[in-house]
Amino acid sequence: MASHFSRVAFTYDRTRYHPPEVSGRIATAITAPVEKFFRDPLFLELGAGTGRIAVPIIARGYRYIALDNNPAMLEVLRQKVAGVARKARLVEADACELPFERHSLHAVIAVHFWHLLDCWQEALRESLRVLRPGGFLFEGWDQGDGESEDWRIQQKWQEILARMGYRLVRGRHQARLAEVERELLRRQLEPRTRVVAEWVEMRSPRTSLEMLSERIYSFTWAVPEEVFRPSIAELLAWASDVYSNLDAEYPVRWKFLVRTTRL
Ligand SMILES: C[S@@+](CC[C@H](N)C(=O)[O-])C[C@H]1O[C@@H](n2cnc3c(N)ncnc32)[C@H](O)[C@@H]1O
Repeated sequence: MASHFSRVAFTYDRTRYHPPEVSGRIATAITAPVEKFFRDPLFLELGAGTGRIAVPIIARGYRYIALDNNPAMLEVLRQKVAGVARKARLVEADACELPFERHSLHAVIAVHFWHLLDCWQEALRESLRVLRPGGFLFEGWDQGDGESEDWRIQQKWQEILARMGYRLVRGRHQARLAEVERELLRRQLEPRTRVVAEWVEMRSPRTSLEMLSERIYSFTWAVPEEVFRPSIAELLAWASDVYSNLDAEYPVRWKFLVRTTRL
């Protein structure tokens, strides 16, 4: 999996873009509740990647530890925060074994993260260990509306794969979020989820096709090359029949959700 992130480090931002006002709302949804209870709080983000969530918070002057186990992702982040990183630390480490003292942090952030880990239970236990009493766990994710052309293209690819005898596994992210929620409830905690931003992205079929053919999404990674190549060739042929202009843009509606748990 680490090699997949090294490959996508430089394309990640192009394909998972948040408009500036959305980044601002996410930063506020995370920092405002912590500010109410703690002075000069220290944030830790697990799997910070190229800093979609981290950079706007760091730019507001908060103390922030951006942790990731992939040096290529961290390198992209390092270049972005070079001018504003006065109080930021970039740490290359595994989230399943956090190199921090017990009760040493005020907030832990995990965005699009748990589903990538086999050891999510350890990572969650570690997050709760390093948080101070009264500290916050924030989990975040983007959610598409499931009715866009982007979704239609993904569904078509899934159909082509099924015809070739390959069953694409999707929905791991949502399934893992549900598992984490059950674990939080079992610990008598009270996770609360809310939509913190909504926006419309204009995306062309060409971009939607690239997201699949360049294996940007993690759900594409397990498809063996010998199935992947012909399935994408068939998808591209289908798309050039269906879309008269592959560069014409269409709307994709997005929401960003944050689940907040206070210890
Ligand atoms: C899907 S990206 C999300 C990045 C960022 N949170 C965002 O939403 O833009 C997941 C990140 O988690 C990192 N990662 C995966 N497994 C990890 C682990 N065990 N420990 C630390 N980071 C990990 C990857 O290198 C990648 O940068």
